Amino acid sequence: MILTVTLNPSLDSIYFTDTFVLGAMNRCGNPVKAIGGKGINAGRTAALLGAEVTAVGVLAGVNGTVIRSALEQEPFSATHFLTVAGESRNAVTVMDSLHGQTEIVELGPQITADTAQQILELTSKLTAEPKEAPILAFCGSVNTDNDHLYQDYLEHLGTSFKILTDISGRQLQHVLAGTVKPYFIKPNIHEFAELLAMSIKDKSEALAQLNHPLLKEIPFILVSCGSAGAVARYHDQLFDIEIPQIAAINPTGSGDATVGGIAFGLDQGLSIEETLQYAMACGMSNALEKAVGYITLKNVHRFKEQIKVQRVSV
Ligand SMILES: Nc1ncnc2c1ncn2[C@@H]1O[C@H](COP(=O)(O)OP(=O)(O)OP(=O)(O)O)[C@@H](O)[C@H]1O
Ligand SMILES: [Mg+2]
Repeated sequence: MILTVTLNPSLDSIYFTDTFVLGAMNRCGNPVKAIGGKGINAGRTAALLGAEVTAVGVLAGVNGTVIRSALEQEPFSATHFLTVAGESRNAVTVMDSLHGQTEIVELGPQITADTAQQILELTSKLTAEPKEAPILAFCGSVNTDNDHLYQDYLEHLGTSFKILTDISGRQLQHVLAGTVKPYFIKPNIHEFAELLAMSIKDKSEALAQLNHPLLKEIPFILVSCGSAGAVARYHDQLFDIEIPQIAAINPTGSGDATVGGIAFGLDQGLSIEETLQYAMACGMSNALEKAVGYITLKNVHRFKEQIKVQRVSV
């Protein structure tokens, strides 16, 4: 069983236009509307692959009501979303051929200490229920004054099951500095450079840092590098992962889909190589969709066979 926690779900609007003109009226037909947030996207991906997925999180206001009803149409086995004060966020993406991707993302409702505690209690209860150890994923930003929120969660939950995180900035720094480490982290190359406070421009530079002292006790690290694929460390094995070129339509959420692929592979007990193939194939499949955090099984299975996972040494 996979459980994903999304503390900042979003109502996503994605506009596709030939040219986006700043400071002018831009009319867009056929926007894509969807619900998102990294945990929901990763969970949806794993569920579409066939895993049993429970989604946990918080919702607020009118947008929260819309998201709650849309969640009923999603492929989750169960959903547990607390209602909190404020308004769940809108996330607007404009895709145009000149500038690529422009995003406007609201901060979302404040996660108070009380809400954080309620989510922790709910997560503890749900992870204690299954007979087999669950895979738990904490994904995405959180609007809180507590920079140690995810670190606190890990310290309370312990190490009896695998915890995956797709977070960045200070929350990630604190998680890595804590006594209970996540089983898996998935920074993209920019987040990886920020985490290690150094310039990392390409896959070979990322590969060279996978044994950085800061990451010593993390069993599984995937640094995703967009259309260039990824590099990974699984215990003491290093991997270079090459993907075929595709004409991407909207790569937003490809990292979330990648986390969904990893969660699926771990949940099903697949080999590390096949788990990495699923992860990359999910990221690629998402990049071919207009929507954020969606995959098609046909594309995942087609791409999976074309992904080269090579063991390397540095
Ligand atoms: N343009 C692209 N073409 C092909 N595959 C892509 C492309 N962009 C992303 N992918 C696939 O998705 C994976 C994750 O993408 P990326 O590194 O962009 O994640 P990310 O920056 O965390 O994304 P997000 O945070 O928006 O979900 C890549 O490793 C790759 O497999
Ligand atoms: Mg990401």
